[in-house]
Amino acid sequence: MSPAAAVLTAGALLSTPILIPPAGLAPIALRTARSAAITAARRPETIHPGERWLDNRGEHIQAHGGGIIRIGDTYYWFGEDRSQAFDNQHRGIACYSSTDLADWTFRGDVFTMSVDERPADLPGTGLVVERPKVFYNQKTRQFVMYMHLDSGNYAAAEVGVAVSDTVDGTYRFLKHFRPLGQQSRDIGQFIDDDGTAYLIFEDRPHGFHIARLSDDYLSVAEDVCLVPMAMEGGALVHYDGLYYAIGSHLTGWNPNPNLYATATSLAGPWSEFKDIAPPETNTYGSQSTLLLKVVGTKTTSVIFMGDMWRPRTQWDSRYLWMPLEIGHGNLRLPQPRAWSIDVETGETSIDMSAPAMEIPFPPSSVRQAARGF
Ligand code: DGJ
Repeated sequence: MSPAAAVLTAGALLSTPILIPPAGLAPIALRTARSAAITAARRPETIHPGERWLDNRGEHIQAHGGGIIRIGDTYYWFGEDRSQAFDNQHRGIACYSSTDLADWTFRGDVFTMSVDERPADLPGTGLVVERPKVFYNQKTRQFVMYMHLDSGNYAAAEVGVAVSDTVDGTYRFLKHFRPLGQQSRDIGQFIDDDGTAYLIFEDRPHGFHIARLSDDYLSVAEDVCLVPMAMEGGALVHYDGLYYAIGSHLTGWNPNPNLYATATSLAGPWSEFKDIAPPETNTYGSQSTLLLKVVGTKTTSVIFMGDMWRPRTQWDSRYLWMPLEIGHGNLRLPQPRAWSIDVETGETSIDMSAPAMEIPFPPSSVRQAARGF
């Protein structure tokens, strides 16, 4: 892929061309030159699953339950900021940027809400803001953030929508609702190869929906499929002519064996669900949040992005990112250990000389609270 083509190929999820640079980004010619310079110097970068992941400030990245979009040659990672500055009266969503998926720069808390600022008509009391996912709408040139918005006891079960003119600007809260009138807790995002944007949402007790967003992305337009499986942490990727859906069981903050299914169409029919990893590992102690497709000059890789929650010290929750073994209807999460990626070529390499990641198990008292939201 030429540098120019790389600039014009959007990102997350990850093969949709973004032809118009959004406000706030450098002109294409400038970015092309920068991209070439980066390419010359670029080395595969190492990612260490399960370890503290430090940002440019030397602080552990706070982007839990996150999502990623790529604009030009830059990836933007949005997620829950669980740092101790945010107690359960205050919720924050952080944004980080990277050109190599390993080194991340903190761009700021792009959305915050306190209990005092919660929408007056949100049922219940208390506030939950989780699993933010940002989409770029080429028609409106707006960045549209979906979040799981809830009351403290997770009974409201809604989404919130916030918008910004720039990717890392302050997102302005617009509205909240139950998508398609249904309960919605964990949300995921998927942008198909043709650019169509979908929201995945968990609708207890029916299953999880794959739903198309409206043209302006500000509402949920159409239910493409209701998969009758009780699953959260839903994520999708389109790889080599097949859709792969993954998700976790519903065990609160506790890890469980995540599953995948395949279909030739988003509308299904979906295959039976199978384990993505040996079930006794509980997905190596993690829970899915996104499948990131990196289309390179030599190959296409799909990265499993998972959260290793630490419910009592959420700020120290870790990330499990690993390249998946995927193809021909099979998907497998390899045993986590240090690995590297060259985002230009799409090639990944697992360092087999590095020790395998230790699988953390939550304290038994936490494990007992197996069923949760
Ligand atoms: C599981 C979800 O996946 C998380 O995002 C969070 O909502 C927890 N439940 C809360 O128990």
